[in-house]
Amino acid sequence: MHSIRNDLSEATRSRICELLNARLADAIDLGLEAKQAHWNVKGPQFIALHELFDQVHAVVVGHVDLLAERAVQLGGTAEGSLAVVAKRSTLPRTPGGLVDGAAHASALSDALAAAAKQTRAAIDAAARLEDAATADLFTEIARDLDKQLWFVEAHLHGKS
Ligand SMILES: [Fe+2]
Repeated sequence: MHSIRNDLSEATRSRICELLNARLADAIDLGLEAKQAHWNVKGPQFIALHELFDQVHAVVVGHVDLLAERAVQLGGTAEGSLAVVAKRSTLPRTPGGLVDGAAHASALSDALAAAAKQTRAAIDAAARLEDAATADLFTEIARDLDKQLWFVEAHLHGKS
C-alpha cells in the first residue's frame, strides 16, 4: 500500500482494495462476456439483443474504471491484467459457441446475477469496514447490474 493522506487506516484501505480488486476481476470478465454476446448473437431478436448487449458492456466498462480507480485512490494497485482476471473472476463460465439469442440472454443473465450477488456482499463488507464511500460505490454498481439484468432477463420471459 502507498502512503497517502486519506484518513482511513492502512489496514482498512488494504482490505477495501482486496474487495475492489475482487469485484474488478468480475467486472472485466462481465464486460468481455457482454461483448462476446454482442458479436455472436443471431436470430429474430438480433438487433434488439445486439444493441442491448453493447449497452451492458458500456455500463460495465464504467464500473471497471470506478473500481480500479477507487483502489488506486486508496493507495492500492488496480489489478486488472488478463492473467489476474482469469484466475480471480468468480463469474460462471459461459460455454463457447453460443449463437441463439435466448442462449446468450440466459448466459449473460447468469453472469449479471452472479456479479450483482457478489457486489451486494461487498456493500456489506465495506460498511463493516466503515468505508461508506466504497459501500456507496458498490451500491451504485449493484443497482446498475440489477437494472441490466432486468433488461436482459426480460428477453427470457416465458422461457425460464
Ligand atoms: Fe459493435
